[in-house]
Formats: sequence, structure tokens, C-alpha cells
Amino acid sequence: MRFAMKYLMWMHVMIIACTLAACGDDAAPKYTVEQLQDPATCMECHPKHYQQWSGSMHAYASEDPVFVAMNRRGQRDTNNKLGDFCVKCHAPMAVQLGLTNGIDFDPAALPPSAKGITCYFCHNVKEVTSTHDNGLVLAMDQTMRGGLEGALDNPAHHSKYDVLMDSDRNESEMCGSCHDIVVPEAINGVPGGVAVERTFAEWQTTFFATDKRPGIHLTCGGCHMQTSAVPEVVADFEGVEVRPFGFHEHMWPGIDQALTPFPEIDAQAAAIKRDLDPSISIIGPNPAGGGSPEGGICVTPENGGQITVRLDSVNVGHAFPSGAAQDRRVWVEVIAYDATNAIIFQSGVVPDGKDPEDLNDPNLFGLWDRTTKTGGAVAHFFWEIGTIDSQLLRPPVTNDPTDPRADHSTTKQYPIVGLQNTVERITARVRMRALPFAALDELIASGDLAPEIRERVPTLDILGTQRVWTRANRNPATGCCNKFDGCRP
Ligand code: HEC
Ligand code: HEC
Ligand code: HEC
Ligand code: HEC
Ligand code: HEC
Repeated sequence: MRFAMKYLMWMHVMIIACTLAACGDDAAPKYTVEQLQDPATCMECHPKHYQQWSGSMHAYASEDPVFVAMNRRGQRDTNNKLGDFCVKCHAPMAVQLGLTNGIDFDPAALPPSAKGITCYFCHNVKEVTSTHDNGLVLAMDQTMRGGLEGALDNPAHHSKYDVLMDSDRNESEMCGSCHDIVVPEAINGVPGGVAVERTFAEWQTTFFATDKRPGIHLTCGGCHMQTSAVPEVVADFEGVEVRPFGFHEHMWPGIDQALTPFPEIDAQAAAIKRDLDPSISIIGPNPAGGGSPEGGICVTPENGGQITVRLDSVNVGHAFPSGAAQDRRVWVEVIAYDATNAIIFQSGVVPDGKDPEDLNDPNLFGLWDRTTKTGGAVAHFFWEIGTIDSQLLRPPVTNDPTDPRADHSTTKQYPIVGLQNTVERITARVRMRALPFAALDELIASGDLAPEIRERVPTLDILGTQRVWTRANRNPATGCCNKFDGCRP
């Protein structure tokens, strides 16, 4: 009875508080904005979000030694015209808090609240004002925005559902604004600027963006922040209940890995492999009437004898590679053998430590943005780029199989004139590196990058592309991998 009375009185107080301040939890005091800006504050109640984020490239963005080296070099090369252009995305809180102008940027001088892309930065966005170059505006308040409806009150922060954060309902604007870079004319002198990273723009052309049906409409978060299969709590706090599809992965694996000691390196590497292995494939076109595809690798008499390799992306929501496509090196390695197991043709056999473009391989099938300075010389750095010859796997723009654009694959022809009847076996795979040695070597030569970083850039083998064509297993009518094993080893 006394309890009930107390409860009723409490309710009464709450109702008054609510009418005055619009909502119940607003009445309670919360942690200060400064406390909330430190990711360690969130660890107390969101330990799993924290652990995953701590190993992500978002946490690493301002530590990344290649980033720090490029920014330093860029300031010198442009007489500081670069300013805070790079740090605005890689250390956005440091810029917000007025801790750097970008010119003498040193991550070691920053407190944890200003390093990388923090919890507070993403969860305090109140508005997106641009489709590129980080047009995110923060509220600088004590409210954490997310995709949860009816979040339980807690002593640390106010909560607010915001569609910009809800990957099931938004249009990728929040992620997209940073994952799209146009280097302004004021930096590179190119009228209108140069679109060096275009992930958001690419995504907008895909059916994942244009088809609004649930399950087909997939945003950045829809693919890169999947919910856990097993329902779980999203906060370790009294009274919090399990939410089905509540927890969104906060690892954001892509291509890059930490090149210096950093948390969660093995977990990141495993997640990169998980997402990368199935993302592209050496595979034939889907037959019009259904069934398994035939092709992928073919040996045909055309052009005096040729091998063809058909490469396609699978469930990638933009081009492949995307983003830092000027730095990525993705290439196809093809080796053909005769009946004595002697190599009779090869392309893309790239030794460790060497860039694929340095092979002088006339048949190289390489996917990346070829960037040049205005004068025509090869450009390795953002601020030097005048023009881009983009050679990437195209994004999927339609899911209508009768639309000719449904096929967004790329097929490469390798000349093996006169050898088409001698080939017994062909192995193929796609290999990838996040960075070109040429750019690293320039940074090492100018004293901006520690030489040991060069050895730490891994070469990734994309498992979904490993294929073996054999004369015995081909379809003799077409010369292609037969549809039953599709050249799977
Ligand atoms: C004292 C515990 C506590 C701390 C510290 C804390 N949170 Fe929360 N947070 C919660 C609880 C409880 C919920 C509600 C969970 C629910 O309803 O399932 C929540 C919900 C959220 C939501 C969802 C909001 C929505 O409406 O979608 C976000 C985002 C969030 N927290 C981010 C953060 C961040 C970032 C930090 C660090 C700055 C942080 N939290 C610190 C307890 C905490
Ligand atoms: C339909 C699913 C899907 C959607 C939608 C999607 N992605 Fe991806 N993304 C992928 C896959 C698959 C990969 C390749 C796997 C990997 O890199 O580990 C990838 C790779 C990436 C990479 C690394 C690319 C590189 O070559 O450096 C970035 C960055 C990225 N995505 C960001 C985004 C952003 C930002 C959006 C929204 C504008 C987005 N993605 C939308 C599936 C998707
Ligand atoms: C790159 C931006 C970004 C960063 C950095 C980030 N988050 Fe999130 N977080 C999101 C988005 C987007 C969602 C909502 C996903 C949805 O609902 O579709 C989310 C959701 C959440 C939620 C609600 C539960 C859930 O999983 O949906 C919590 C809690 C949360 N984040 C905590 C954190 C904490 C703690 C950190 C730092 C350790 C952090 N986030 C860093 C983007 C970010
Ligand atoms: C403040 C700008 C910013 C926002 C907002 C942002 N990102 Fe990023 N993101 C970056 C930067 C910078 C990096 C690269 C850091 C590095 O490698 O040095 C990155 C890295 C990534 C990677 C890994 C790429 C790789 O090659 O390994 C993925 C995937 C990714 N982001 C997805 C997302 C998604 C999904 C969202 C939205 C929920 C998002 N990002 C929001 C700036 C941002
Ligand atoms: C609009 C936001 C934005 C700006 C501005 C920006 N970056 Fe980034 N940066 C990103 C994102 C997003 C990624 C991840 C792209 C991906 O993985 O494909 C990234 C990745 C990187 C990486 C790691 C990937 C790689 O190998 O290239 C480096 C290094 C880097 N940026 C350096 C710079 C430098 C130097 C500048 C300034 C000249 C700069 N960035 C400006 C958003 C930005």
C-alpha cells in the first residue's frame, strides 16, 4: 500500500516533469558532453559495441600511419592549402573541438575523445548537409541518436530515434557524406574538383538504392552493420530487455587493416575475410532459364586462340573496389599449363613487394583507378590528381534479368594464339592489396613514413575467385567450365 502511494506520487512528479520538459527522461541529470565524447564512457554499458569499434578502421582513422604520412606530405606539397580537409573526416572530433587545423596534425597529441571517428561523432549527428566531404552537423548535446524505438532511460544520456541512423529506413546519407570525396578546386586547381572516392555516388545508382522494397533496399548499414542472428541486449544495464535484431555489428570490415599494433587485429582480419571472400567471383552468366551458370573460364579458338576470364561482383552495393580505388590494387592471376605441367601462358603473377603495374604485363587484368596529374604523369596522392581513368567492376544498377544492364561483369581476353589445343589446365584467382608500394615508397623517400610499414601491407587472396579449368572437365561444346562444378577446385 505504502509502495503504491509512493509510486503514484512518483508518477505525479514524472507527469509534471514531462509536461515541462516534453519527455520523461529529460528530467534526470545526465553525463556531461565531455564525458560522453570519450568512447571509454560508453564501454561501461555498451561493452560489445565498444570492443568491436575499438578494432575498426573508424577507430584507426587518425592513427593510420599512412594517413598521417600522407597528410604531412600533402601539407608541404600544397603549401598548407590542404588545411583540415583530410582530418575533417579522419579525426572529425579533433576539428569540432578545435584541437587541430590539420597542418601539424599528430594523433599522439590528441585525447581519446578526439581520435578517429568516435561513438559520439556518429551518434550526435543532427543533420546531413552535403553528399560528400563530410557534411555532418553535430548537435553537441547529451542525446545519443540511434535506430532504436523506445530506448530505456539511463543515467548517461538521452536517447532519440533518428531515421538518419536507421539502416532499414534511411538513404545512406550519414555514412555516404564521408564515403564520398571531391577534392576541391582550391586544393588541386582542377575546375569543379575531382571525385576521388565515390562509394556513395556509386551506391545511389544501384538497385539497392533505387528499389524501395524492404529486403531489396539495402543501405550502407544494411550490409556493413548486420544484426546478430541471436537476439541480444544492446546495453548491459538493469531493466534492459533483449531486442530481436537489436544489435548492429560495429566492426565495419572492408579492405584496410591496422599496420601498427592495435586492438582486435585478428577479429578484423577474420571479418574482412568473411565479407571479402564471397564478394567477387570468377563465374559464368546466369542462364536465362535458371539453373547453374556455365563459364567463368573458357578456352576458345576465337582470335587465333584465347582464354577468357569473366569476373563479377556478388552483393556488392557499389563498384569493386570502391572508395580508395586509386590506392587499391586488385588483379587476376592466370596460369595455363600443358600436358607435361609446363607453364605455357601466365598473367598477373605478381611477386611479393612489387606493384602489379610494374610487371610490364601487357595482358594484366587489374582493377583500380588509374590517376594522373594534369600534365599526364602518374599521380599517387589526392591533391595531385587531375584525371581518373576508372577501371572497376561496375555496380549492379538493375535486378531485372531482362534488362541488358543486369550483366555488370567484366570479361578479359588473354591471347594464347595457336595454343588453344595444348592447354590442359588453367588456374585463376584474384589477389588484392590495400595500397600500392609506389605511393608508400614516395612517402618513405620523403621521410614521412617509417620504412617497416611497407612490409606490413598484406596481399589478400579472395577465396571466392579460386578456379581450376581442366580440359577433362570443360564443356567440349563451349570450351568453358561446365555448369556442374563451374571450375571450383
Ligand atoms: C549507464 C549506462 C550507459 C552508458 C554509460 C551509455 N549508454 Fe547508451 N544506452 C544505455 C541504455 C540502457 C540504452 C537503452 C537500451 C534499450 O532500450 O534496449 C542505451 C541506448 C543507446 C543508444 C540507442 C539510442 C536510440 O534511441 O536508438 C545509443 C545510440 C547509445 N546508447 C549510445 C551510447 C554511447 C555512444 C555512449 C557513450 C557516449 C553510451 N551510449 C553510454 C545505457 C548507457
Ligand atoms: C548490398 C550490400 C552492400 C551495400 C548496400 C554497401 N556495401 Fe560496401 N561493400 C559490400 C561488399 C560485399 C564489399 C566487399 C567486401 C569487403 O571489402 O570486405 C564492400 C566494400 C566496401 C568498402 C571497402 C571498399 C574498398 O574497395 O576499399 C567500403 C569503404 C564500403 N563498402 C562502404 C560502403 C558504403 C559507405 C555504403 C553506402 C553508401 C556501402 N558500402 C553499401 C557490400 C555493400
Ligand atoms: C560510423 C558511425 C558509428 C560509430 C563510430 C559508432 N556507431 Fe553505434 N551505431 C551506428 C549506427 C548507424 C547505428 C544504428 C543502426 C541501425 O539501427 O540500423 C548504431 C547503433 C548503436 C546502438 C544501438 C543498438 C544497435 O546496435 O543498433 C548503440 C548502443 C551504439 N550504436 C553504440 C555505439 C558505441 C558505444 C560506439 C563506440 C564504441 C558506437 N556506437 C560507434 C553508427 C556508429
Ligand atoms: C566522419 C566520416 C565517416 C563516417 C560518418 C563514416 N565513415 Fe566509414 N570510414 C571513414 C574513414 C576515414 C575510414 C578509413 C579509415 C582508414 O582506413 O584510415 C572509414 C572506413 C570504413 C570502412 C572500412 C574500409 C576499409 O577499407 O577497410 C567501412 C566498411 C566503412 N567505413 C563503412 C561505414 C559505414 C557503414 C558508415 C555509416 C554507418 C560509415 N562508414 C560512416 C569515415 C567515415
Ligand atoms: C570526405 C571524407 C574524407 C576525406 C576528406 C579524406 N578521407 Fe581518407 N578516407 C575516407 C574514407 C571513407 C576512407 C575509406 C575508403 C575505403 O576504404 O575505400 C579513407 C581512407 C583513407 C586511407 C586508407 C585507405 C587507403 O589505402 O587509401 C588513407 C591513407 C587516407 N584515407 C588518407 C587521406 C588523406 C591523406 C586525405 C587528404 C588528402 C584524406 N584521406 C581525405 C574519407 C576521407
